[in-house]
Amino acid sequence: MPPLSPLFSLPLNVGSLSLSSPLVLAPMAGLGHVAYREVLGRFGGFGFMVSEMCNARAVPQESRHHSPVFRWRDEEAARLVCQIFGGEPAVMADAARRIEAEGLLGVDINMGCSVSAICKKGYGAALLKDPERAVAIVRAVRQAVRCPVMVKFRSGWENSADLAVDLARRFEDAGADLLTFHPRIAPDRRSRPPRREHIRAVVDAVTIPVLGNGNAFSAEDCMTMMRETGCAGVSIGRMAIARPWIFAQLALGFSPSEDIYLRTALEMIDSIWKHFAPERAIKMYKKYLPYLAANFVYGHSLWPELARGATREEMTDNAMRVLGRMPQVAKTPNAFLFTS
Ligand SMILES: Cc1cc2nc3c(=O)[nH]c(=O)nc-3n(C[C@H](O)[C@H](O)[C@H](O)COP(=O)(O)O)c2cc1C
Repeated sequence: MPPLSPLFSLPLNVGSLSLSSPLVLAPMAGLGHVAYREVLGRFGGFGFMVSEMCNARAVPQESRHHSPVFRWRDEEAARLVCQIFGGEPAVMADAARRIEAEGLLGVDINMGCSVSAICKKGYGAALLKDPERAVAIVRAVRQAVRCPVMVKFRSGWENSADLAVDLARRFEDAGADLLTFHPRIAPDRRSRPPRREHIRAVVDAVTIPVLGNGNAFSAEDCMTMMRETGCAGVSIGRMAIARPWIFAQLALGFSPSEDIYLRTALEMIDSIWKHFAPERAIKMYKKYLPYLAANFVYGHSLWPELARGATREEMTDNAMRVLGRMPQVAKTPNAFLFTS
């Protein structure tokens, strides 16, 4: 099937790689885990996927069979970028070496997370207040590995594109292969509309590909973002949790059937309980539920129905009962249910 727009069949060139789709899974802690990615992987249509953020200090000695976040299936390794957070260049470089040695596609450096537990330590978006350190991290990671090195960052802490433009240039000079830019200031988290003109300013400042990010909820949103900003592709977050087939729909022309919500919920249950112990699995599945519920007109009342109980069997029964009666699908998901 043809893509929904020729824009979605443009290749995404990262370093020496040419990836078949410009649409990419954004990193999402607690949501973009190995089980979710297994479900997503069956649909396809993405250029690459980014893991949940992993603590760079832990990565070198982490067991991929025990860590909830530094974990992947062999089948997805070549399309999986591992995101790391931290603040010391040498520590970040060590983590990057392990990631490359494991054969993952690349390393993404987190300079966007504005959660206070992360920023308090000087990590995530706090690095944008310390440009010298931020650039030193990119340089150290670049020197440590040959695989693609990427940076995900935001507008900074003040509402202007100046810092982002300056940093983008310096990240490119330090050897980054791709930038993902979320044009909101850190205190905004995900409130207030993203500033597309800031993406344009970053795109114009560098020669490496820039992915636009923020509120890409539909094919139109992705097309507008690519057309208005000239970005090389779009990093899709919350919508990809609500509809894991969005990449296939946009890039491969996949047409979802009416029962896709029920089938996907059941696949999520299978996959989460396959990869994780029951106590963790139930928490992970419940974290996914507001995104699933957001697809429906009365999602706010379906969500508690879907979440009632504490076992795999109850979750399966809920999904079959609630989604089996084919609730009315909202044209665009109810973003109020897209919790942080
Ligand atoms: C629950 C949740 C967890 C997130 N975790 C991360 C993370 O670990 N690393 C990161 O760089 N961004 C993280 N983000 C931000 C997303 O990658 C993305 O920038 C943001 O959701 C905006 O994109 P969207 O509107 O397509 O969702 C997270 C977002 C959400 C909703």
